[in-house]
Amino acid sequence: MTTRRDLLKFSALAAAAATLPSFAFADEKAKPVGRAKKPLDILILGGTGFTGPFQVNYALARGHKVTLFNRGKKPSPEWPGEVEQLFGDRNTGDLKSLQGRKWDVCIDNPTSLPFWVRDAGKVLAGNVGHYLFISTISVYADGSKPGIDENAPVAIYKGKDAMAETQESLRADIENLYGPLKALSEAEAHKQFGKRVTVVRPGYIVGPRDETDRFTYWPHRVAQGGEMLVPGDGADPVQVIDGRDLGEWMIRLAEAGTIGTFNAVGPKTPMTMDEMLHACQKATGGKPTYTHVTPEFLDAQKVGELPIWVSRKSGEYAGYGAVSNARAIKAGLTYRPLETTVTDLMAWFRNRPAERQAKLNAGISREKEAELLKAWHAQRGA
Ligand SMILES: NC(=O)c1ccc[n+]([C@@H]2O[C@H](COP(=O)([O-])OP(=O)(O)OC[C@H]3O[C@@H](n4cnc5c(N)ncnc54)[C@H](OP(=O)(O)O)[C@@H]3O)[C@@H](O)[C@H]2O)c1
Repeated sequence: MTTRRDLLKFSALAAAAATLPSFAFADEKAKPVGRAKKPLDILILGGTGFTGPFQVNYALARGHKVTLFNRGKKPSPEWPGEVEQLFGDRNTGDLKSLQGRKWDVCIDNPTSLPFWVRDAGKVLAGNVGHYLFISTISVYADGSKPGIDENAPVAIYKGKDAMAETQESLRADIENLYGPLKALSEAEAHKQFGKRVTVVRPGYIVGPRDETDRFTYWPHRVAQGGEMLVPGDGADPVQVIDGRDLGEWMIRLAEAGTIGTFNAVGPKTPMTMDEMLHACQKATGGKPTYTHVTPEFLDAQKVGELPIWVSRKSGEYAGYGAVSNARAIKAGLTYRPLETTVTDLMAWFRNRPAERQAKLNAGISREKEAELLKAWHAQRGA
């Protein structure tokens, strides 16, 4: 039986006051959060990866009871309060530990496969009052234009039977199918949980705990200084959301019982690539000189992806830097300043193992960058 109740120790920190704990970062030290009007029983499916811990911390600070469900493979952070831990495996449909239990709210974090939602529905529908599902802006069928709002059509899964096919292959080709499968998962959520469903569609989630390095590449590179390659003319819009802003807002959505579908992208007002780099510069103290290169040059040089950035001028993702966040802001999504995100991200990153810091998971190497800059200047006769 995989069911196990493992009540973690209740620390003095959480008992003392409704403040965000030391697990959090510079801007959050002893920041008063305030108790929620009504404490909720919250079940978080996942909870120990990137964004889950921010939900847990904030929920505890707000006075809610938290239960986590996962396989127990990822180490749990040291929680600042009592957290109930249940175990199971959604790949194999082992959700026994959830049976016969009731919660006010369920937040489903890691799910990209519709059968995971179906299985959750089988055991939880009727036993949770509100189901919040983390989806993605990748669900949209057409990412090429700015201003994508929540009513835009979603991508269609082209296979015959997503439930069976994804169960069999267990993500063999999930990368290409991420958007359509998230869209199917959203539909399954509505099927299983009826009207009490909230779908949150983030863009790039960034900040401390982000192991992808897609955003981290930029402040890390800015901090190093020297001549730095910047894709595009600097005016392309970019959007990111701090994992803490996302996690905390999801708890507030749960508290308010807010239903609906929301894009979760930031910042509040549009930000260009140059503005993003400026924020990185302010936060890290780096002083690079920027050399802007054209998308055509990058294509000709066969540079794959420079993370976070997309050219606003062409391509199937040209609208990805300008997705509408109006509905989410109306529903209470708030944003830390990007400088705060960068400061805390770099503090976290500099505590990662040396080998992890030496080779980022995204972006280009300094050698590749130097090569590209040389080719760019040679082409322009400089
Ligand atoms: N990163 C981005 O930029 C981005 C952008 C848009 C949308 N999203 C979406 O945002 C969500 C982010 O999730 P997160 O990683 O931050 O969530 P999280 O809840 O912090 O971490 C993932 C959790 O899922 C659990 N898990 C993994 N496989 C499992 C299984 N087979 N059965 C049961 N539990 C399992 C993990 O624990 P164990 O491994 O111990 O089981 C872990 O607790 C995802 O849905 C992602 O698609 C991300």
